Amino acid sequence: MKILSIESSCDETAVAVIEDGRHILANQVYTQIAIHRKYGGVVPEIASRNHVMKMPFVVQDALDEAHLDFQDIDAIAVTKGPGLVGALLVGVSEAKALAYALDKPLIGVNHIEGHIAANYLAFPELEPPFLALVVSGGHTNLVIVKDYGLNVILGRTRDDAAGEAFDKVARVLGYPYPGGPAIDKAAQTGDEHAVEFPRAMLEDGSYDFSFSGLKSAVLNEINHNKMKGIDFRKEDIAASFQAAVLDVLTDKTVRCAEENHVKKIVLAGGVSANKGLRKRMSQVGKKHGWQLYYPPLSLCTDNAAMIGARAYYDYQLGRTSDWHLNAMPGLELPGVVK
Ligand code: KG4
Ligand code: ZN
Repeated sequence: MKILSIESSCDETAVAVIEDGRHILANQVYTQIAIHRKYGGVVPEIASRNHVMKMPFVVQDALDEAHLDFQDIDAIAVTKGPGLVGALLVGVSEAKALAYALDKPLIGVNHIEGHIAANYLAFPELEPPFLALVVSGGHTNLVIVKDYGLNVILGRTRDDAAGEAFDKVARVLGYPYPGGPAIDKAAQTGDEHAVEFPRAMLEDGSYDFSFSGLKSAVLNEINHNKMKGIDFRKEDIAASFQAAVLDVLTDKTVRCAEENHVKKIVLAGGVSANKGLRKRMSQVGKKHGWQLYYPPLSLCTDNAAMIGARAYYDYQLGRTSDWHLNAMPGLELPGVVK
C-alpha cells in the first residue's frame, strides 16, 4: 500500500510517499527555518502563507522522487494536529482535495504518534510493546505503546515541553532559531558543572515533567551575571542547562522502564536529535540491558515520512477520516491516561 502523506503543522512543508508503513519511497521536506529566523521564532501567518505557496510543488517533487503518478497512490494521509491552526489547515485542505479528486481514502494522523512512528521507518524489526519517550517542541511524554492502536500515557509535561525550554534558553543566550541544535552544539564545548541548575523530579512516583522552573533559573542566572558584570561562557550555561534536562529525562525514563518491566525503549521528537541525549540514553541503556531505538537525524524533526508510517497503521485499524476532517491545533496524544 502506497500512502502519500503531508505534514504542515509548523514550519516544514513536507510530503512523502511510504509503502506499507515501513519503506520510504520519497521524503521531501521544504523547511521555512531561514524565513522565520529573522523573527526569532515561527510566525504563524507567514508559515501558513509559505505552506500555501509551496505545497503543490512539494507534492509533485515527492511523486517525482518516488517515480510515481497520482494513480499509483492508494491513500492520502495528513497531520491533523497538534500544531498551528493555519498551517495545519493548508495540509488538511490539500489532502482532502487530493483524496476527493483521486477517490482514495483520507487518513488524518496525530503528529505526536507520527514522531513515534519515525522509528518504524528506521527499524523494520521494531514492534510494540515498547516504552516511548516523546520529546518535541510542544510535547514531553512517557508512553507505553502497548500495540499499534493502544497507548498508555504515564507522564506528560505540566508546563514547558523539553524543546520549548531549549528554544527559550537559546533565545536568551542569543543563539538563532531553532535553539535546540545551537544549545546541543554549544554544550559540547561547555562545562556542565559550571552552574548547578535545579532538576524538577516532582512528587515521588510521578512520571510527569516540569521544565519551567529550570528555564527561569537559567534566565535568572544570565540576567544576574549581566547585571553584575560577571563574565560567563555561553557554552557553560548551555552545557549546565542541557545536563539538567538530560538528568530529568533519563532518570524518569529509567524509573518508568524498571517499574513497568520494559526493556525496549524508543526516543521520538525533535529533541531526540540531541547528541547529549542520545549518548546518555545509550550509556544508561547498556547498563540496564535495553534495546534502545532512536530515529536518524533526518527523521527526528518534522517530516511527512513519519506521518505516512503512522497512517498505515491507522488505516489497518480502520481509523480513516471523512470529509469533516479539520485542523485540530490542541490535539493530544491519544490513549489511556494513567
Ligand atoms: O518534534 P519537533 O520537530 O516539533 C514539534 O513537533 O514540536 O521538535 C522541534 C524541537 C524544537 O524545540 C527544537 O529546538 C528541538 O526540537 N531540537 C533540538 C535539537 N534539534 C531540534 N533540541 C535539542 N537538541 C537538538 N539537537
Ligand atoms: Zn514535530
